[in-house]
Amino acid sequence: MDADTKKRLAAESALEYVETGSVVGVGTGSTTNHFIDALARIRHRLDGTVASSEATAARLRERGLRVADLNAVDGVSVYVDGADECTRHRQLVKGAGGALTREKIIAAAAERFVCIVDDSKLVDVLGTAAPVPVEVIPMARGYAARQLVSLGGNPFWREGVVTDNGNLILDVHGLDLVDPGEVEDTLDRITGTVANGLFARRRADVVLIGGDTGVRTLP
Ligand code: A5P
Repeated sequence: MDADTKKRLAAESALEYVETGSVVGVGTGSTTNHFIDALARIRHRLDGTVASSEATAARLRERGLRVADLNAVDGVSVYVDGADECTRHRQLVKGAGGALTREKIIAAAAERFVCIVDDSKLVDVLGTAAPVPVEVIPMARGYAARQLVSLGGNPFWREGVVTDNGNLILDVHGLDLVDPGEVEDTLDRITGTVANGLFARRRADVVLIGGDTGVRTLP
């Protein structure tokens, strides 16, 4: 089975977590795009959606789904999004699509975070394959990069990319992520950073993993 089919299976199984009459938070990326397509089939059952990126908002609207500002809704019952890496403890690296800050905000606001991945995303230790993206205010790029080096990281500026918030992304390789919650807090304390792609403190509540034999659930 190819990776895209596994992503679609995981995405479609997330519909089970969508409550009738609720507001659904929607992430960003190729796995989430399958979820949007599935969500469109039950759009009449939803109160609306909130989107983690302009690209997701556009795809939702194209499929007839209502997109609300997060400030205009009372709450988000479930947030569904993909990940770049995932451990069996449901801790994640996210942000390859550059939408990490809005993803983190909606994940924080949601009652439940359902992560959808294909089985290639599972790792024993975060940082095995994916760098940790850090969104920085443009004027802080050099300063933040030097701080990241002092922490043992190897930051690369994702040149040419400007986030939906008007900021820049540094992709940080080489961090020791044995305790990802501690690193998440440390990165958050660098002045001029907006957010980082470690989802260790607000981890996923449920992970749906598409594989050759179907979808399995963590926990
Ligand atoms: C977007 O910024 C990311 O956090 C995505 O959720 C992550 O990169 C997963 O993307 P795919 O579903 O395309 O693999």
